[in-house]
Amino acid sequence: MTVSLQSPGRINKLQLKNRLVLAPMQQHKGTPAGHATDYHVEHYGRRAADVGLVIIESTAVSQDGRLYQDDIGIYSDSHIKPLGKVVKAVHTRDARVFIQLSHGGRKSHLLPGERLLSSSPIAFSDEYGLPFEAKNEQLEQLIGRYREAALRSREAGFDGIELHAAHGYLLHQFLSPISNLRTDSYGGSPNRRLQFVLQVAIAVREAVGPDYPVQIRVSASDYDPGGLIPLHIADIVKRLEPLLDAVHVSSGGITPLRPLDVYPGYQIPYAAVLKSETTLPVIAVGGIHQRALAERVVAEQLADFVAIGRPMLDEPDFAGQLLGKQPLSARSGS
Ligand SMILES: Cc1cc2nc3c(=O)[nH]c(=O)nc-3n(C[C@H](O)[C@H](O)[C@H](O)COP(=O)(O)O)c2cc1C
Repeated sequence: MTVSLQSPGRINKLQLKNRLVLAPMQQHKGTPAGHATDYHVEHYGRRAADVGLVIIESTAVSQDGRLYQDDIGIYSDSHIKPLGKVVKAVHTRDARVFIQLSHGGRKSHLLPGERLLSSSPIAFSDEYGLPFEAKNEQLEQLIGRYREAALRSREAGFDGIELHAAHGYLLHQFLSPISNLRTDSYGGSPNRRLQFVLQVAIAVREAVGPDYPVQIRVSASDYDPGGLIPLHIADIVKRLEPLLDAVHVSSGGITPLRPLDVYPGYQIPYAAVLKSETTLPVIAVGGIHQRALAERVVAEQLADFVAIGRPMLDEPDFAGQLLGKQPLSARSGS
């Protein structure tokens, strides 16, 4: 049977009405205390009509892990109610909604008195401060933060969780040999560099139970000769597979190095590696903005879902164009 963008999909036991996903995109509209507002309710509600799944932006599991100070968070019970309104707005449009749980590690933006933490004391770039190497006790606290965030996410009504382990943020900082130079049980070999992410995934899974969708977003390439390549990421995801329900495949962010060639769908080959190396449903993303290309991704089973980012910001009905419900624009038809 040929799969099309219109085909229903499934992550864990959750049925999705089609194969389109709204990619997580920070809106920089959180309150100083990290709360979602009416802006988020309206923003996500408007973009939910034609996608099967909305993944809301990077949402911090602790205040000092916010990527930017205007990010939203889920590090206190007071965040649950405003996020619940976002969930309701998406459900009203007959879409499902995941929250992306994140911690920025060495790429966080801090308030006075907070300290940057990472796997090892290496700064991301000259513009970021030097982080300290998190001690085991602090890692245990962080795992607890993820656990609490997962419980709050479920209480707010989210249909699932995406763990942000991409783009050079804390979980990625543990996975990559570029940022993790530890010699204890959390570093020194691929297996040990995986331990922190593994423990986070175990804690989240234990908190939400086996039937609740939990997926991971990964960077399949570090774009650096000393960094991770797609097959390394496939090995990592294979180890995590019993704990996960899907994988969302992005790239980059562990250093300021960018890919040399960014063309429409340039990350699809990475998604295809994860598709062939694991049994998990795969979400492809990155410049997949033309209807023909998006259809090819699912028809040829290079991935199971296609996430769309930037076009959905200025054209909230862009997903409808890819589904053929709206006339194609220069962008979706070219
Ligand atoms: C304004 C903006 C904010 C973003 N915020 C996030 C985020 O919070 N979490 C994340 O994993 N990726 C984030 N991304 C990356 C997108 O999810 C997506 O991977 C990227 O835009 C490529 O897809 P596109 O070519 O369809 O835009 C952001 C991208 C943009 C443009």
